Amino acid sequence: MSQLFARKSLKALLAEMEGDNRLRRVLGPVTLTCLGIGAVIGAGIFVATGEAAHNTAGPALMISYCLAGVTCIFAALCYAEFASMAPVAGSAYTYAYTTMGELFAWIIGWDLVLEYAVGAATVANGWSSYFQKVLNGIGIYLPTSLRGAALKFEEDSHSIMGGHFVTTESFINLPAVIIVAIVTAVLVKGIRESAGFNAIMVGIKVAAVLFVIFVGAFFINPENWENFAPYGWTGVSFFGIPVHGRVSEGGKPMGMIAGAAIIFFAYIGFDSVSTHAEEAKNPQRDVPIGIILSLIICTVLYVAVVGVLTGMVQYDQIDVNAGVSDAFAKKGLAWAEFIIAAAGVAGITSVLLVLMLSAPRVFLAMARDGLVPREFFADVHPTFRTPWKSTILIGFFVCIMAGLLPIDSLLHLTNIGTLFAFVVVCGAVLMMRYLNPDMPRPFRCPLVPIVPILGILSCLLLMFALPPANWLRLIAWLLIGLVIYFFYGRHHSILGKELRGEISTGLTPSNLGDSPRD
Ligand code: ALA
Repeated sequence: MSQLFARKSLKALLAEMEGDNRLRRVLGPVTLTCLGIGAVIGAGIFVATGEAAHNTAGPALMISYCLAGVTCIFAALCYAEFASMAPVAGSAYTYAYTTMGELFAWIIGWDLVLEYAVGAATVANGWSSYFQKVLNGIGIYLPTSLRGAALKFEEDSHSIMGGHFVTTESFINLPAVIIVAIVTAVLVKGIRESAGFNAIMVGIKVAAVLFVIFVGAFFINPENWENFAPYGWTGVSFFGIPVHGRVSEGGKPMGMIAGAAIIFFAYIGFDSVSTHAEEAKNPQRDVPIGIILSLIICTVLYVAVVGVLTGMVQYDQIDVNAGVSDAFAKKGLAWAEFIIAAAGVAGITSVLLVLMLSAPRVFLAMARDGLVPREFFADVHPTFRTPWKSTILIGFFVCIMAGLLPIDSLLHLTNIGTLFAFVVVCGAVLMMRYLNPDMPRPFRCPLVPIVPILGILSCLLLMFALPPANWLRLIAWLLIGLVIYFFYGRHHSILGKELRGEISTGLTPSNLGDSPRD
């Protein structure tokens, strides 16, 4: 029992950073901010926005973006405090281990793998839509059997899951599978090359977003904003069951808050900056800068894009697959549509890169603690210095999900998993301030406890606004994780072995209730 709540000491964490099997320290503040923007701007703004404006929020999606952005800022401030205290790979997983104990750390690590891997599959799906737009622009059309996901989710208000999966006329989303395979190969080769490649992609996509804003602004018709919140200002649910606001035929919540729960996806990824803390040159200073700066830049750009998009095209005419580029086609600017689709492809690729870069690093941190097999997940390639085996394994699973599953189901699952992780991180910041008030914090989250509490509440509000099927899927994923923990992780945990007296690392684990100040 005591092992479940045993905490890894910060001293142990910092001692680990001295070992040989380290990743290279090559990332500075600009590269980290680029990684943040690279992870954030992608399929969310380019793909999910069209759907959300059309079916869930209308022009009020601008406010949905602000709401989701503010939620992320609360979480980002908490993330940054932890990232600066414990600057090693592993992100929220590592933070949970030093504050809430092994069981919570496992839950959060397992949940982060869900966020990054399912998120990558979602993004690959969005990539495929934009890539096919580019191909169509030069007269190439894929056969129907290779164009999209093999399954789609059909809403049904009588089903406990809110609907069920049915087959489509497509057999596999081939472009999605191919891009995941290519990105996996790039990541096995190494972080330096990946970060450089990412910087070019980020440049292209920020240029595309600015192009949309400044060119699109000339085509705004303010009348399109008159019916500003056609689905209402709320969209509040409880465990996905609507309690206030309109609902779709299948029982899905609609309105401004429901819109925020969907486009929250567009912000996912800023936290991945902290998973690279181990590769940062000066993690104490640069990681908080990377997280917060990337988030602020993205929020401003998003609100401007949605303003332009809903000003150019009436909300119920916005295309649900590639809304941003299609808005320009509707204005007769086919050349602009092509440019945006091509830049969108580049931009979405960089998101895929960062998400797929992050998942193996969470496993790496878990493997070093013995919670997943070390020989496999902590094996850093002798030449490339990357966690190559787990990168390939995750690439394989992302290929399967991206090839078969529809984008909306993947997106909702990613959102709920990520929001859950944020709730834990905000809670952990509060706990750590109480348990370990004197620990140096190069970056301090302001207004504690208000900011972490607002973070927890706003994340829960968005989690509740997602359809009920997502709660069941999240619970199923966590249960699978717990089975693995109780059958493998608990017995192989380094901390557990230390507690049982089987090994001695000289670094005493701390139990809940003890002072973790060592
Ligand atoms: N925020 C990322 C995107 O929108 C995951 O693609």
